[in-house]
Amino acid sequence: MKIVIANDHAGTDLKFEIAEYITSLGHEVINIGTDSKESCHYPEFGAKAARMVANKEVDLGVLICGTGVGISLAANKIKGIRCGVCSDTATARLIRQHNNANMIAFGARIVGSELAKDIVKSFLEAEFEGGGRHQQRIDMISAIENEN
Ligand code: RB5
Repeated sequence: MKIVIANDHAGTDLKFEIAEYITSLGHEVINIGTDSKESCHYPEFGAKAARMVANKEVDLGVLICGTGVGISLAANKIKGIRCGVCSDTATARLIRQHNNANMIAFGARIVGSELAKDIVKSFLEAEFEGGGRHQQRIDMISAIENEN
């Protein structure tokens, strides 16, 4: 798969490790930065990555900031994005299986690099269970998104 990865300054070190790991799993990684540890603004990177996912330039996205929350909030403002913040592998799997999440976020100040790798692996390997109640609920989320 083609995976976009983005982060703010808090996530830079972990990003490089995770990008290399995703590549080792056989995926193509598009790194859109930041590659610096100088303070920057996570909404810019989250939204840029999310637009690439929403426009289907890539299959899925991985986001990293200090907590994972700020960058996921920005990504979730882009229409069609379903980004979940995960600190464990079960959630990472379930957001694909049940929520058809197309992006995952985690916090470099929250999870260590080995756990972060397992989280990403769980997310990338899981598949949407499709149809039925899960699709119905995702359609309900899309309807809320279309209210404005
Ligand atoms: C940056 O210091 C920090 O606020 C950011 O990385 C993130 O944790 C925000 O949600």
